[in-house]
Amino acid sequence: MATNPVTLMQTSDAAVVCRRLTKDFGIGDAKVAVLRGLDLEVPYGAITLLAGPSGCGKTTLLSVIAGLLNKTGGELCVLGSDADSLRGSDAVRFRRKNLGFIFQQYNLLPALTAAENAAVPLLAAGMKRKPAVEKAEVLLEEMGLASRMRAFPRQLSGGQQQRVAIARALIHDPRLLICDEPTAALDAETGHLVMEILRRKALRSDRAVLIVTHDSRVFQFGDRIAHMDDGRIVRTEFQEHGHVPELVGREK
Ligand SMILES: Nc1ncnc2c1ncn2[C@@H]1O[C@H](COP(=O)(O)OP(=O)(O)OP(=O)(O)O)[C@@H](O)[C@H]1O
Ligand SMILES: [Mg+2]
Repeated sequence: MATNPVTLMQTSDAAVVCRRLTKDFGIGDAKVAVLRGLDLEVPYGAITLLAGPSGCGKTTLLSVIAGLLNKTGGELCVLGSDADSLRGSDAVRFRRKNLGFIFQQYNLLPALTAAENAAVPLLAAGMKRKPAVEKAEVLLEEMGLASRMRAFPRQLSGGQQQRVAIARALIHDPRLLICDEPTAALDAETGHLVMEILRRKALRSDRAVLIVTHDSRVFQFGDRIAHMDDGRIVRTEFQEHGHVPELVGREK
């Protein structure tokens, strides 16, 4: 029988598969090993939460999965594509079409309004400005920002900027949504609204959501919680969801 090497794509149908993943920064004496042989699966149709102490490598891991940083070693498969086979302009197109990011720093463009910022992925995909901005306005309205569509980022509060960043990440209906602390600047009520929107996305069988969070109120929205420490996943918890729990009422 032929002995072709077994690839990650053949061994798992998860949206993201990491095996013995490593990421070092710097070289020689200055080398820092941040991801240290990490194993993780992010399944479709679920919210996967990633929790762990500051500096353990969460943002680095998201950046590697998102293709913003190259891995140092190990294997990584994203939406059925091996990270090693995705390079150059193909990788940029793949990311633009299939991934949505919510960064820890919101990275909004200061010269664009809230609605224009949220529309950026549609504009990048070639949609005309008017329908793109209209679509962004519908989503921003859903997120409680109806009165702030034409404001510039500097005129928005931290929580409002965060919601614009979330709208921008969702607007092109990405197959994989990657979020770094999406509720950090939000009050309980707005955090609940955002998590419900993310949860609706994640309940589709061809979509996956990966969220880094320190916010214990977010934990109840996860289907699994991967605990990270010192560059590795050390424990994974699984949760059943009969319904989305009432966050706001109970926290008050
Ligand atoms: N470009 C870089 N060069 C060198 N070291 C880096 C770089 N980026 C991150 N690090 C280091 O990697 C480690 C992990 O950083 P990372 O930002 O991934 O942590 P984190 O888990 O997201 O923390 P936090 O919860 O505070 O956001 C830290 O020690 C950080 O100093
Ligand atoms: Mg971080």
